Amino acid sequence: MRGNALAEKIIVIDEGTTSTRTMLFGADGIPLGSAQREIRQHYPGPGLVEHDAAEIWEATLACTREMITQAGGADHVAAIGITNQRETVVFWDRTTGEPLAPAIVWQDRRSAADCAALKEAGHERAVQAKSGLLLDPYFSGSKIGWALKNWPQLHEANDRLAVGTVESYLVFRLTGGVHVSDASNASRTQLMDINGAGGWDADLCALLGVPTPLLPEITGCTTRVGTTDPALFGGAIPICGMAGDQQAATIGQACLSPGQTKATFGTGAFILSASGTVRPVSNHRLLATVLVQEGDVRSYALEGSVFVAGSLIKWLRDGLGLLANAGESEGLARSVADNGGVYLVPALTGLGAPHWRPDALAAISGLSFATTKAHVARAALEAQAYQAQDLKSAFAADGVDWAELRIDGGMAANDWMVQDLADVLNLTVERPDFVESTALGAAMLAATGAGLYPDLASAAASMRGTATRFTPALEPEKRKTRLAGWQSALAKVLG
Ligand code: G3P
Repeated sequence: MRGNALAEKIIVIDEGTTSTRTMLFGADGIPLGSAQREIRQHYPGPGLVEHDAAEIWEATLACTREMITQAGGADHVAAIGITNQRETVVFWDRTTGEPLAPAIVWQDRRSAADCAALKEAGHERAVQAKSGLLLDPYFSGSKIGWALKNWPQLHEANDRLAVGTVESYLVFRLTGGVHVSDASNASRTQLMDINGAGGWDADLCALLGVPTPLLPEITGCTTRVGTTDPALFGGAIPICGMAGDQQAATIGQACLSPGQTKATFGTGAFILSASGTVRPVSNHRLLATVLVQEGDVRSYALEGSVFVAGSLIKWLRDGLGLLANAGESEGLARSVADNGGVYLVPALTGLGAPHWRPDALAAISGLSFATTKAHVARAALEAQAYQAQDLKSAFAADGVDWAELRIDGGMAANDWMVQDLADVLNLTVERPDFVESTALGAAMLAATGAGLYPDLASAAASMRGTATRFTPALEPEKRKTRLAGWQSALAKVLG
């Protein structure tokens, strides 16, 4: 480990879908503190999900200030790392930094018709070859194209309009005007050619209706992109670690060698297998994405994105009033011998990998008078394992057999769900004792960018902590019956 002993703490800004969180780490990866604020979710209509970027910025500022105080001042902070909900797009005024429109969240389906038309016109294969992604409203490009067509204020802003994903907006505000995006986030826009030189691709931008001058410059994930405006925190702190939250979690779990796989159960569930420096190609509806770029060296991952995981439990609690708190789901699942024939297909915002059906609607099937809320809660938790199993099959068909699975995210605290995951996948599941892998991954990137470690692999080796293993224990017949039940419930939803 190298560097100035005074400034060896790292602050991570973890900008998730439902909350802004900052964490303070020692250079050895030990967490020293955290601050958190909820982010309001706006649902202006079916399929529409928006955030207020000004609220995100205010929350980031407040939470970062708390960590700077805990660190003992800006002089004690070697670097800031940023990790974020991906694909969400922010539109802002370059002269003021103020948002010009709502941020369109990754879950938003408003560009579904545009994507369907492009698919119909036969563009998907070419889009996938360049971007690694399929045509779906999930990705940023079609959201930006939709906004430019429908929000006149963006045209009125002319040259003042800047567009970017959440990390890009935060860097702009933190530095007072640097407009960049790291390669892992850029790879989720569907506007980047992830092959070769790796820049914005003129054909993809034209297809999705996005003029390139609006977009940030693409940088590496450990590149020092600027320093914080001294007026914000009483010092100029380097920002030198950035990655989308799922890539950051993969790094935080030290899944850097080809085949190493992690699953994060946050708002959604995202499973990534590291592919090394050779870009993967999926024939089974998975995504090829940039895992990390150090300098000019890019490495990739194969990804399966499931849109609904923790948000299902939140919906059972807030939407249906079935649970008093998320933790209650574990006790309810344990209180019944089995799911009682109940299956919950959580297509609350369409279905992602491997189905890619933005039009799919959620369903609870197998209900009878014998059904209790415990069966529904259990079905909701079981759905996590079934969705992961569907991805396991798709990864295997693409030639990536998981040897074990490292998991993290808020839902991973639920021991019943983790054991069920091991049982249904018939695989050893490993959960780190410090489950904030996303923040830890961003800390590893920032520590590398700040020169505290010679490279990311060394940072990951030194900063990763201990883990607990869950081994499969379900009888094969029971597993088969449960998976068959899921497949028939899923088939009804897919129609
Ligand atoms: O691609 C969307 C993803 O980045 C959202 O992450 O943690 O909010 O589920 P999370």
